[in-house]
Amino acid sequence: MQPIPYGRQHIEQDDIDAVVKTLTADFLTQGPKVKEFEDLFAAYVGSKYAVAVNNATSGLHLSVLALGLKEGERVITTPITFAASANCIRYAGGEVWFADINPDTYLLSLESTKKLIESKPKGFFKGIIPVDFAGLPLNLEAFRALANEHNLWIIEDACHAPGGFFTDSKGTKQMCGNGNYADIGVFSFHPVKHIACGEGGMVTTNSETLYKKLSSLRTHGITKEHMSENHGGWFYEMQELGFNYRLTDIQCALGITQLAKNNKGVARRNQIANNYKQAFNGKIKYQNLPEGTYNAHHLFVIEAEERKGLYDYLRTQNIYAQIHYIPVHTLPYYKEIGYGSADLSYAETYYSKCISLPMYPSLTDEEQTFVIEKVLSYIYG
Ligand SMILES: Cc1ncc(COP(=O)(O)O)c(C=O)c1O
Repeated sequence: MQPIPYGRQHIEQDDIDAVVKTLTADFLTQGPKVKEFEDLFAAYVGSKYAVAVNNATSGLHLSVLALGLKEGERVITTPITFAASANCIRYAGGEVWFADINPDTYLLSLESTKKLIESKPKGFFKGIIPVDFAGLPLNLEAFRALANEHNLWIIEDACHAPGGFFTDSKGTKQMCGNGNYADIGVFSFHPVKHIACGEGGMVTTNSETLYKKLSSLRTHGITKEHMSENHGGWFYEMQELGFNYRLTDIQCALGITQLAKNNKGVARRNQIANNYKQAFNGKIKYQNLPEGTYNAHHLFVIEAEERKGLYDYLRTQNIYAQIHYIPVHTLPYYKEIGYGSADLSYAETYYSKCISLPMYPSLTDEEQTFVIEKVLSYIYG
């Protein structure tokens, strides 16, 4: 049996052809593929606007800047995420405050977030960055109500969840990143995610103001519109300090073909998840799926008492499970600067047991059966 990783990209001939075609086109970057990918992505998630960026970390950075985060201002996020969800707050000089997770969904807990917000005076926090962890969409309707009460913005870190949705109280399916409840959504196109661009990301929003700000900051803050003077066709102005966070046409071409097969990939991921659930039901704890929710299943996480033993054993069997995540507040950088006051014990307990099993569309039934057998035989003998 070949080594079985926890995740991997799925590249087919049409992906290769699209990239090769772009290599001989007029534009390798700043060309038509960028807008094409942005428009297709916006249509896919149901947002008005989308801005392609060179990775999701850049997208998160631009998002906090576009929302006006300033030095010393405070933002809440979850400790069970990749560090980038928190780091973007630090890039703007903001303070990262963590609230705890729900022990069954592993997502940012509404109760813990509410408690943290209400323990401080009004205006203490500026925003919330919840994460659709493992591909499970957070119910943002409830978070929006809390955010509105306290005048907070929301950035949905949807890096794990293109194609996922929750159902709101009106019975409407709300696709991750559609901008109906969050101000901004951010996606990643790193190869272990659903849509592989090598590196890449997308920022979605329904706000024209945010869209313009994100677009400007992505390209140095340079514009040819609304200029104070104009010396001729070559002229531009840099009106604010921006960055070069652009995604190339080569990567967008790949993103377009990858996006076209995302629904199929997510369906296969759900099939794999159902196989795991059938095999583990009543024996092993896994992420709970709230009613009306469609999990995009970037990951399939289980909890194991003897997690390290299981991890090491699976490696001896050529199965490369992974741990998602070391709680961000326990990373040395965040430990040193402090992380506010919330009790994060659910996140810490979760970390002591969590392990992500192989989950990707090209995982074969035979490979999955092998993984299941090895997991069950380690835990139950
Ligand atoms: C939840 C989450 N947010 C943000 C990122 C950052 O994505 P990128 O690698 O595209 O910068 C990742 C990547 O692993 C992630 O998992």
